[in-house]
Amino acid sequence: MRILLYTGKGGVGKTSMSAATALRCAELGYRTAVLSVDPAHSLGDSFDRRIGSNLTQLAPNLWGQEIDLLSQMDQYWGRVQGYLNALFSWRGMEGVVAEETAVLPGMEELASLMQITALADSGKYDVIIIDAAPTGSTLQLLSFPDMARWYVEKVFPFQRRAIQLARPVMKRMSDMPMPDEDVFDSIEELVTYLERMSELLGDGEISSVRLVLNPEKMVVKEAQRAYTYLNLYGYSVDSVVCNRVFPQQLSDAYFDGWKVAQSANLELVREAFQPLPIFEVPFFQSEVTGIEMLHVLAENLYGPLAGKGAEGDPTQKYFIGKPQEIARQDGHYVLSIALPLVERDEVHLHRSVFDELVVRIGNWKRNVSLPIGLARLEVSSAKFEGDRLNIYFPVDESAPAPTPEELKPNRWEALKSRLGMDGANGNNHNR
Ligand SMILES: Nc1ncnc2c1ncn2[C@@H]1O[C@H](COP(=O)(O)OP(=O)(O)OP(=O)(O)O)[C@@H](O)[C@H]1O
Ligand SMILES: [Mg+2]
Repeated sequence: MRILLYTGKGGVGKTSMSAATALRCAELGYRTAVLSVDPAHSLGDSFDRRIGSNLTQLAPNLWGQEIDLLSQMDQYWGRVQGYLNALFSWRGMEGVVAEETAVLPGMEELASLMQITALADSGKYDVIIIDAAPTGSTLQLLSFPDMARWYVEKVFPFQRRAIQLARPVMKRMSDMPMPDEDVFDSIEELVTYLERMSELLGDGEISSVRLVLNPEKMVVKEAQRAYTYLNLYGYSVDSVVCNRVFPQQLSDAYFDGWKVAQSANLELVREAFQPLPIFEVPFFQSEVTGIEMLHVLAENLYGPLAGKGAEGDPTQKYFIGKPQEIARQDGHYVLSIALPLVERDEVHLHRSVFDELVVRIGNWKRNVSLPIGLARLEVSSAKFEGDRLNIYFPVDESAPAPTPEELKPNRWEALKSRLGMDGANGNNHNR
C-alpha cells in the first residue's frame, strides 16, 4: 500500500496534482482513495462533480472524500471525549481551569489522521492520496502525533499499575480524584491510534510527501522550508512537482520576462532540491477541471499510461532518503537527522530532562525521543555534515552493547511503558 501526500503553498496546484494522480492510479488498476483534508475543499471542483463527506465513487477503482471535520470529530468524539475528560479532571486536580483545555489544539488534525489511518487499515485500498492543506497546516497535521505523544507523556506521568495500587490508599486518605481504569483505556486507545498513524506516515516505504510549487521565488522559498521541516519530523519527501511552467514555444513577447524569470527559478529549484526528481507541468490553456483535463495533466506529469510498476506509475518511490538513522562509527553511535536547506545557525539543539533531544528550527521544534540504547549515553558532539545533523554518542565500553532492538527509534515505547501498555504489569486492559 502507498500513501501519497501533496502539499505546497496556497494555490500552487496541490488539488489538481492529487486528482490527476488518483485518476492515473485508478486507471492502472490500483484501488485508489483520494482524500481532501483541507477544510477549504476543492477536490470536487477538480473532478467537476460533488464529492461530499462520504466516500464517493468517482470512476472505476476510484473513490473520493472531502473530510467534514465536524462530522468526523463527532464520529470520533466518543473516543476522544474520554481522553479529554481524563485530561480535564487531571488538570482539575492541579487546579488549572478546565476551560483552558476545552479545545485541545490539533483536534482537527486528529480527525483527519484518524480517517487516513482507518482507510489505510481497512485493506480496501492500494493507494491513498491526500490532498493536503497549504504548508503550515500540513506541518501541523504531520507533527500532531509527536506533539500529542509529548503531551500525553507529560500530562500522565503515572504508571497504570502504580495508580491501581495507590487508588485504595489514596481514597482513604483524601478526596483527590484519581484517574480510573476507563480513563487509562481511552488514553491507551488514543496512544494506539497515534502510534499507528506515525508508523504509517513515517514509513518511507509506505508514505511519500510530494512538494508542489510554481517557479516563483516566494513559492520556492516556502517549499524549501517545508522540505526542511518535513525531514525534521521524519517524513520522506520523494519528489517535487513544478507546476505552471510557461512552455518555451510560447511566442507572445508579453511573457518573455516571465519565461526568463521562470527558467532562472527552475534552475534554483533543481539546485535546491537535488537529488529529488523534479516533475515539470506546463501552464495549460485552461483550468484543470473534469476528467479530460485531469488526463491531460496526468500525461504531462507521468507520461503515457503503461502498466503497474512501469514508467508512468505514480506509486513508485522516486527517491529513498533516510530522514533519521542510527549508525555505529569509530567508537560512537551516530544519530543522524536529515536537515536539508537549513542555515546551521538556525538550528538549536538541546537535551531535555526527559531524555529527549529537542531540535528547534524557527517556530518548529521536534522532541526526538532517544532509543533506549542511546538514552543512557552522553552526547559528545553534534555537527553538520553535508545536509545532515549528526549527533555523536561515545560507546560505553564498560557496559553491555545495546541490542539492535534498543537502537530502534523510540517514539512510543517510553510512553507505552509508562501507561502500562507494554504488557509487563499483567493487566488485562490492553486491546
Ligand atoms: N498547470 C496548470 N495550468 C493551468 N491551470 C492550472 C494548472 N494547475 C492548476 N491550475 C488551476 O489553478 C487553480 C488552483 O489549482 P489547485 O486548486 O489545484 O491548487 P491548490 O494548491 O490545491 O490550491 P489551494 O491552496 O487553494 O487548495 C485551479 O483553478 C486549477 O484548475
Ligand atoms: Mg487545494
